[in-house]
Amino acid sequence: MKWVYIEDLKEHVGEEVEVRGWVYNKRSSGRVRFLLVRDGTGIVQATAWSREKDNPLFRTFDALTQESSVIIRGKVKEDKRAPGGYEIELREIVPVQIAEDYPITPKEHGVAFLMAHRHLWLRSSKQHAIMRIRHEIIRAIRDFFDEEKKFTLVDAPILTPAACEGTTTLFETDYFGEKAYLSQSGQLYMEAAAMALGKVYCFGPTFRAEKSKTRRHLMEFWMVEPEVAYFRLEDDIQLAEDLVEFIVKRVLERRRKELEKLERDVNKLEKVERPFPRISYDEAIEILKKEGFDIKWGDEIGGDEETALALKFEKPLVLHRFPAAQKAFYMEPDPERPELSLSFDMLAPEGYGEIIGGSERISDYDLLLKRIRENNLPEEAFRWYLDLRKYGSVPHAGFGLGVERTVAWIAGVKHVRETIPFPRLLYKIYP
Ligand code: 4AD
Ligand code: MG
Repeated sequence: MKWVYIEDLKEHVGEEVEVRGWVYNKRSSGRVRFLLVRDGTGIVQATAWSREKDNPLFRTFDALTQESSVIIRGKVKEDKRAPGGYEIELREIVPVQIAEDYPITPKEHGVAFLMAHRHLWLRSSKQHAIMRIRHEIIRAIRDFFDEEKKFTLVDAPILTPAACEGTTTLFETDYFGEKAYLSQSGQLYMEAAAMALGKVYCFGPTFRAEKSKTRRHLMEFWMVEPEVAYFRLEDDIQLAEDLVEFIVKRVLERRRKELEKLERDVNKLEKVERPFPRISYDEAIEILKKEGFDIKWGDEIGGDEETALALKFEKPLVLHRFPAAQKAFYMEPDPERPELSLSFDMLAPEGYGEIIGGSERISDYDLLLKRIRENNLPEEAFRWYLDLRKYGSVPHAGFGLGVERTVAWIAGVKHVRETIPFPRLLYKIYP
């Protein structure tokens, strides 16, 4: 008998097939039994009908508990009333393992309970939809850089000798008696790779020991980081806009069902088309002052301020040219106003906040060395990085897009903890 995945049942109408999965739910009504089986690609209803009460198929059915693993066999039927549009006429049920009392029931559970059962929570239909959207977003990112833009993927190391994004959020580890840190960003290595390969990107996990307990922060998150030689800030912003538009279109094209399951308002996503609105840091401060925020030039634009700005627009918002003092050491100053950096953030609409951070990088050796010293960074660990400014230095730029915040926005999920399979949260590393 042919083993078929539920999402492919439509190609097997009228055939006898086998589905291998788990019991999602079941109910009986008189002489009919309904078994809902999920197999990771979907949920199908399987029905059995019998005149006799004591029929062996019914006995097997009655012993099944929620999440028991089963193999079912029967004929595929089109049925508009069934969930998914197809049904299986049950001929045989083979229990694989009868599950003990499953801890996650249809009643409401608290988040702490669900997070502690993340290994099982992943099976529920909303989490399933989020994981499929996450996968689609990752695939779109890869297709964008590989196929559309012809970038070369270069993997950055995870164990690193120095900080990239500030020394306060480093996870330290012992490296044969020396200190090493889990990577906060692959950027510095991408700068080296861009000088070798022109346009490159890395895509991997990054780590921040952020003492933040917000809906936007994880200790371990995935980031895609393009870097391009000879790119200026304007090119960089355009690439970011292009990427975000591409991702949203792709998810709308291929993950409608999942977006529906999550009750996502897709009209809002359909509006995400270039050009995106842009405002400078200077303008942002003026807008925020008018709105009554207690903020002045030079202050950080925090989460609440970001939300207030982004809510003014239906599309992602580009904020650019932040004060150099509040940004990373490697950012190129604005030649017209050196107190500003050639940097930008992209904020997702609907209050989801920053999804991208990027900039032009310092290409002058002396200035970079000065910044490394001002920031009390270990000069020795940055020798190789300074070398890039000695041997054919060129203007270059790049950015990082955080996968989990992007998934949260596109899937319409409030907290990033549900957008990664096994989130690492402040003080929480189980399961
Ligand atoms: O703005 P960030 O810190 O920029 C960089 O790391 C640059 N080196 C990237 C580059 O230019 N190559 O981080 C980039 C993005 C943020 O916009 C956000 O989406 C995500 O990474 N991010 C986080 N996501 C979840 N939890 C955290 N703690 C995050 N910190 C950053
Ligand atoms: Mg940032």
